[in-house]
Amino acid sequence: MFRIVEKRELAQDIFQLVIEAPRVARSAKPGQFVIVRSDERGERIPLTISDYDAQQGTVSIVVQAIGVSTKKICSLAHGEALADFAGPLGRPSDFVHEDLEELKKKKFLFVAGGVGTAPVYPQVKWLHDRAIAADVIVGAKNSAMHIMTEEMRSVAGNLYLTTDDGSLGYHGLVTGRLKELVDGGNRYDEVIAIGPMIMMKFVALTTKEYGLKTVVSLNTLMVDGTGMCGACRVTVGGKTLFTCVDGPEFDGHQIDFDEAMRRQGMYRTLEERARKIAEERAAGHKCNIGLDR
Ligand code: NAD
Ligand code: FES
Repeated sequence: MFRIVEKRELAQDIFQLVIEAPRVARSAKPGQFVIVRSDERGERIPLTISDYDAQQGTVSIVVQAIGVSTKKICSLAHGEALADFAGPLGRPSDFVHEDLEELKKKKFLFVAGGVGTAPVYPQVKWLHDRAIAADVIVGAKNSAMHIMTEEMRSVAGNLYLTTDDGSLGYHGLVTGRLKELVDGGNRYDEVIAIGPMIMMKFVALTTKEYGLKTVVSLNTLMVDGTGMCGACRVTVGGKTLFTCVDGPEFDGHQIDFDEAMRRQGMYRTLEERARKIAEERAAGHKCNIGLDR
């Protein structure tokens, strides 16, 4: 069992849980995810790591209570425990393997959208701890939906907040702020975008115009996170890849976003996707969410 040592509501229905998981904390790297199960009968759900502390032996996750399983996880109190907390899984962000001296010559721009802010934080923190520059744009619907602002401010070079309704920071979408920064003379070597699929699609389209390398995280396509269900299948540069095994981060200019969004848009919650996959399996169908693997 994995004890919840801290629980905080960051915004409406969005919770941060700090979990006692020393083994995961020791080997976690930015970009990786864990598979969580609230109790023995609960569904396994993949969630990106939003922070880790090897010394304390803790790992943080940010969970939005939108389906049965995520609501169950969010209903657990401080001191209670999760049945499973497996990981770290997935490939770490590419920059983790780059030569540090080469990395120090680069300037990164992160673009975080809504709950996608949580997985951006450990990446910016990792770079900050190694004196590597990273600016961050964080977008949300309104000021109340901004999460982890102070944590992000403490590790970002410059932090630019945006809101769709203009209640905080730049009034508009993250892509508007991104254009403003680049057109204003800011030079970046790489953009890393994590958030809703539609945001990542438009960030990638925008950066393509500027010839700016862009990496995105497709975590939200995953269902079981084990390479077994095939639901996270994605076309990258004409090749079929699996988000949970080959990713979750990919070259944003190579992804077929429309196909990924069609697949993701078929189900509102992870449970709906998992149920549909199980039904299709039972019926022996080869359905278009990738069960024919
Ligand atoms: P949201 O709908 O509030 O969007 C966040 C920001 O994205 C907006 O403020 C806006 O600036 C930008 N955006 C939205 N549509 C855009 C468009 N068409 N063009 C340009 N920019 C656009 O976000 P939310 O409600 O918090 O939803 C978060 C989503 O992120 C969920 O779908 C969740 O599944 C996903 N998520 C993704 C990851 C990941 O790894 N990719 C991780 C956690 C959460
Ligand atoms: Fe099931 Fe990747 S999430 S195969």
